[in-house]
Amino acid sequence: MKVVETIDLEQKFQDKIDREIKIEPNDWMPEAYRKTLIRQMSQHAHSEIVGMLPEANWITRAPNLRRKAVLLAKVQDEAGHGLYLYSATETLGADREDTIDDLHSGKAKYSSIFNYPALSWADIGAIGWLVDGAAIMNQVALCRCSYGPYARAMVKICKEESFHQRQGYELLTTLANGSPEQKELAQDALNRFWWPAIMMFGPNDDESPNSAQSMKWKIKRLSNDDLRQNFIDATVPQAELIGLKVPDENLKWNEETGHYDFSPINWDEFWQVIGGNGPCNKQRVDARRKAKEDGMWVRDAAMAFAEKRMKKQSA
Ligand code: 3HC
Repeated sequence: MKVVETIDLEQKFQDKIDREIKIEPNDWMPEAYRKTLIRQMSQHAHSEIVGMLPEANWITRAPNLRRKAVLLAKVQDEAGHGLYLYSATETLGADREDTIDDLHSGKAKYSSIFNYPALSWADIGAIGWLVDGAAIMNQVALCRCSYGPYARAMVKICKEESFHQRQGYELLTTLANGSPEQKELAQDALNRFWWPAIMMFGPNDDESPNSAQSMKWKIKRLSNDDLRQNFIDATVPQAELIGLKVPDENLKWNEETGHYDFSPINWDEFWQVIGGNGPCNKQRVDARRKAKEDGMWVRDAAMAFAEKRMKKQSA
């Protein structure tokens, strides 16, 4: 295609974005827009699927039937979110098998938070309250993403995330109002999950190679730092309400800015974890590889059945 034609197409595309017209799968789009959406959406899907692992470990250890049923429902929701997002990624021409292989080979990322272990039952509360709480903060903004299938997927996913966040907060509230040992369990979970949860929003804006373009294309509607600040401002009062202390001695409400000031984030830890050196990276990717191997016979049987049906229909 001639350069002049491409420039004209790109200008028309940006004009649609600026006028808040959703981009749909069959619309013309710059290759770079398609690529960054496949990158972000597939990694979002991977996060949902890998995110099932820490919680699944606690389904058989839930303290009662009600907690077990709630946790089962949440983990099943995450599987659905993953499949939803893999399907949305396929609307951009991404091949499902290749996408999943990228996770298994270590080529693709998933959310850093899931490389931390869930060591106690209170961690299940902290994951729901903080991790799903952070995910909601991020995903509500994505409901206004310029790419139609992604934005629409977020609407359904956010409704379910609200249940996830609420059940986690209620679980921790129960522990925080329980025996001294239970309260200590809740505080310990907050101590271990607070900083990895605020890292979920990604590096500072000036360290983010993708943000500027993603904001121009209205994939990202709020920056990493703005979403992080909104999450901190909303979550600190919730911790205080149940008598838990956020593990940051510099956390302080700033009347002037109307936000909480907080300590610098340990970005070395962040880059180490997303570079594959977190506490559970190997365990998580091995579990996903094993799930694919163990489930191969189901896929083979389904393919054999489909081929047989097609042969019968074409006979
Ligand atoms: N974990 C892993 N990688 C991360 C990360 C994190 N928390 N934050 C940033 N990164 C990676 C980015 O993917 C990028 O690497 P890449 O170019 O190889 O993909 C690099 O660090 C630089 O970060 P940027 O800020 O430039 O990247 P983005 O513009 O993509 O912003 C993001 C990062 C905010 C995570 C964005 O990708 C996003 O909004 N993703 C969709 C939401 C999502 O994935 N949430 C994950 C949690 S899902 C969840 O918790 C489900 C719940 O139900 C359990």
